[in-house]
Amino acid sequence: MEDRFESLIEGLLDDQFASTADFLSPDLVDRLRTNLLTRLHQGQMHPAGIGRAIGFQTNASIRGDLISWLDDAPEDEAEQEFLALVREFMAYLNRTCYTGLNALEFHYAIYGPGSFYKRHKDQFRSDSGRRFSLVSYLNEDWLPIDGGALVLSPEQNGEKVIFPEGGRMVLFKSDEVEHEVLPTVRPRMSITGWLKTVSY
Ligand code: OGA
Ligand code: MN
Repeated sequence: MEDRFESLIEGLLDDQFASTADFLSPDLVDRLRTNLLTRLHQGQMHPAGIGRAIGFQTNASIRGDLISWLDDAPEDEAEQEFLALVREFMAYLNRTCYTGLNALEFHYAIYGPGSFYKRHKDQFRSDSGRRFSLVSYLNEDWLPIDGGALVLSPEQNGEKVIFPEGGRMVLFKSDEVEHEVLPTVRPRMSITGWLKTVSY
């Protein structure tokens, strides 16, 4: 486990982002994907907004995904397992990098064919709580012709193209790394979230 965490953190320190294949087990990916599809069929996935509170609006010309938030203390065992892993990673980051993270929020997301998310940063101007973005993909057998790449543009060096292969975990600094999701050909599923520092 710590090896998996360590390889993510090393990339983060060197490049402002990290990407690791097979971070989630195939079994956990299957169970989370089933949950997402159940929520979709029950009408619980909704257009994502841009900004927060007063600035909140939905706009499919900027982002076209449907999302559904995870509970902090979910009943579902796969979600419990996922959040336990993320909390363990957050504690590891705090221990090794003194990051002082103390909160998290995650949602399922699905991009239907043709949808995308234009270039953006994840930190709202009105809310600096989001420190690290974590994206985990839930797709089976993704091919480059399926589109839907995540393109990261770290400040120092070029662009990094990442395909949303099931089990892959991507981590980057929310306030530093601009990124976009290119139009997808197939439905594209993920759990995306943020590690935060909030003052209570
Ligand atoms: C986001 C986002 C990236 C991805 O939800 O803010 O940028 O690869 N997602 O799904
Ligand atoms: Mn984003």
